[in-house]
Amino acid sequence: MVFLTLSSAVLLAYLSLSSKPLPTVALDDGIGKLPFMGYNTWNAYHCDIDEDVILQTAQLMKSLGLADLGYQHMNIDDCWAEKNRSVSGDLVANATRFPSGFNNLTNQIHDLGMKAGIYSDSGWFTCQLYPGSYLNEARQLFRDAEQFQTWGFDLLKYDNCAVPFDEIIDLGMVGKYTRMADAIANLSATTSQPPLLYSLCQWGREQPWLWAKRLGQTWRTTDDIDADWEHLASIINQNSFITWASDFYGHNDMDIVGNGNLTFDEAKSHFTAWSLMKSPLLIGTDLTAVTNETLEVLMNPEIIGINQDPVVGTSVSPFRWGVNPDWTFNATHPAQYWSGESQNGTIVMLASLNVLDESADMFFNLTESPWINAGRQYSVRDLWTHTDNGTAIRNFTAKAVPAHGVIALLLQDAGPEPAGTQPPCARPEWCIDQNGTLVQ
Ligand SMILES: *[C@@H]1O[C@H](CO)[C@@H](O)[C@H](O)[C@H]1NC(C)=O
Ligand SMILES: *[C@@H]1O[C@H](CO)[C@@H](O)[C@H](O)[C@H]1NC(C)=O
Ligand SMILES: *[C@@H]1O[C@H](CO)[C@@H](O)[C@H](O)[C@H]1NC(C)=O
Ligand SMILES: *[C@@H]1O[C@H](CO)[C@@H](O)[C@H](O)[C@H]1NC(C)=O
Ligand SMILES: *[C@@H]1O[C@H](CO)[C@@H](O)[C@H](O)[C@H]1NC(C)=O
Ligand SMILES: *[C@@H]1O[C@H](CO)[C@@H](O)[C@H](O)[C@H]1NC(C)=O
Ligand SMILES: *[C@@H]1O[C@H](CO)[C@@H](O)[C@H](O)[C@H]1NC(C)=O
Ligand SMILES: *[C@@H]1O[C@H](CO)[C@@H](O)[C@H](O)[C@H]1NC(C)=O
Ligand SMILES: *[C@@H]1O[C@H](CO)[C@@H](O)[C@H](O)[C@H]1NC(C)=O
Ligand SMILES: *[C@@H]1O[C@H](CO)[C@@H](O)[C@H](O)[C@H]1NC(C)=O
Ligand SMILES: *[C@@H]1O[C@H](CO)[C@@H](O)[C@H](O)[C@H]1NC(C)=O
Ligand SMILES: *[C@@H]1O[C@H](CO)[C@@H](O)[C@H](O)[C@H]1NC(C)=O
Repeated sequence: MVFLTLSSAVLLAYLSLSSKPLPTVALDDGIGKLPFMGYNTWNAYHCDIDEDVILQTAQLMKSLGLADLGYQHMNIDDCWAEKNRSVSGDLVANATRFPSGFNNLTNQIHDLGMKAGIYSDSGWFTCQLYPGSYLNEARQLFRDAEQFQTWGFDLLKYDNCAVPFDEIIDLGMVGKYTRMADAIANLSATTSQPPLLYSLCQWGREQPWLWAKRLGQTWRTTDDIDADWEHLASIINQNSFITWASDFYGHNDMDIVGNGNLTFDEAKSHFTAWSLMKSPLLIGTDLTAVTNETLEVLMNPEIIGINQDPVVGTSVSPFRWGVNPDWTFNATHPAQYWSGESQNGTIVMLASLNVLDESADMFFNLTESPWINAGRQYSVRDLWTHTDNGTAIRNFTAKAVPAHGVIALLLQDAGPEPAGTQPPCARPEWCIDQNGTLVQ
């Protein structure tokens, strides 16, 4: 009897939990359908920011042609505030850094045809110990969400430092980030202005890919990027297991592009993986000293086109790991063979990340990708050389892929494969004639 009572209690508890399922679809409040693109001040400037740096960067985004390619957000990171709120409890911008005020700055950014982003934190303080927004998120407390919107910002990056003690906060990660999500939604409902784009930055803690799409548009999946090959490989490896979480209105955020100490091939790998995995594309390098090579990488229109695909929101995913067995979690040797859908009909993409330390040929059978039809041939376009590379029948080999290099291809249905192509089945196992004979 005791046992039965206990299990009924467990069952009841389970039923009462499951009777209130949370919505599982992405929040569609009209913004952030595609991964956002822009600039973030942290990686190049850390705390050394002011209105001149931000305006100069925004103007360079425009004059270099980045803004017109879609890099529209000019996002201010940590250290913009005074250390104390005003006597009435409002956040105050550092008047030495921002003598013209934020409304002036966001007006000028908007005049360039761009959008402005601001930064805060879900705890008592930001990571550099400026005031956080905890207990100050909401309109009823006349504070931060409204302040950011009144200042003219379009986006809020929301960090995860200086978390209040457990008995104060009484919330998990989801609850802590829900406070600002509610404030943003309530503010938008009250003002009829578009909501702030909510960019959650909890460094991948508590599996945000499972819940953050209910609250905002992007969520960081990993720690701050250190853009050398070792860290890139590790970020790609981690994200290779959660590619399913990105789609319209909700995106895995892999952090900054266009920064770090990378070779040209590594920079192309970085940008290709981030773009095709539908991460936001936030530039983090000093644009006054940007190299032509970096710009060439960041401004590849065919790669950006995939990231900003208006019809297909999903990410590429691995179909074969390559050097390691499938599903191997390995920080130095992530999956090498990936594919995904894109806008242009029966198009297939493949980005082969060569994780070896010397150049190598990379071979795949077309039907290893779920998006390829058997019995068809495919035209091949190379998205880095911008060339049409003939027609692939059954398989394709990329020759001498450089160490840490990438190949990005667009495969497009080019009709039935030639009659009599052998063997009769692309996948020979269970290749059975109608009369029951196994054909080898
Ligand atoms: C405000 O900006 C000035 C100039 O950059 C800087 O010296 C000062 O430390 C900043 N104040 C705070 C509280 O960060
Ligand atoms: C700023 O706030 C801290 C507490 O967070 C307080 O100790 C300090 O006196 C305040 N400074 C000023 C100038 O109000
Ligand atoms: C912004 O401030 C600058 C310098 O104070 C001033 O010249 C300019 O007119 C202001 N612009 C706007 C849009 O308010
Ligand atoms: C947002 O609005 C809902 C419904 O009106 C309310 O229950 C909630 O407390 C509000 N949240 C905040 C943070 O203002
Ligand atoms: C960049 O990497 C190269 C090769 O690993 C190394 O020699 C160089 O010192 C690095 N430069 C910086 C600024 O880290
Ligand atoms: C970079 O490209 C610009 C425009 O194409 C050219 O004028 C400039 O000389 C190039 N700089 C270098 C260092 O190659
Ligand atoms: C599909 O092709 C068109 C025409 O070339 C191009 O404008 C568009 O960007 C492509 N879509 C994607 C997602 O690459
Ligand atoms: C990662 O994979 C490589 C290649 O198979 C292997 O040499 C290395 O030992 C693996 N690393 C770990 C930590 O298992
Ligand atoms: C490619 O297809 C051939 C012929 O069906 C098969 O023998 C081979 O194992 C396949 N290779 C891969 C990597 O799937
Ligand atoms: C690739 O496919 C062709 C058929 O088009 C076949 O002749 C060739 O053996 C295949 N290569 C491999 C390595 O499976
Ligand atoms: C596609 O063709 C171009 C031009 O010949 C060549 O440079 C490139 O390596 C080819 N791409 C692949 C993946 O073979
Ligand atoms: C059955 O199919 C196989 C393979 O297509 C063929 O070689 C064989 O002649 C067929 N047998 C009969 C009885 O039709």
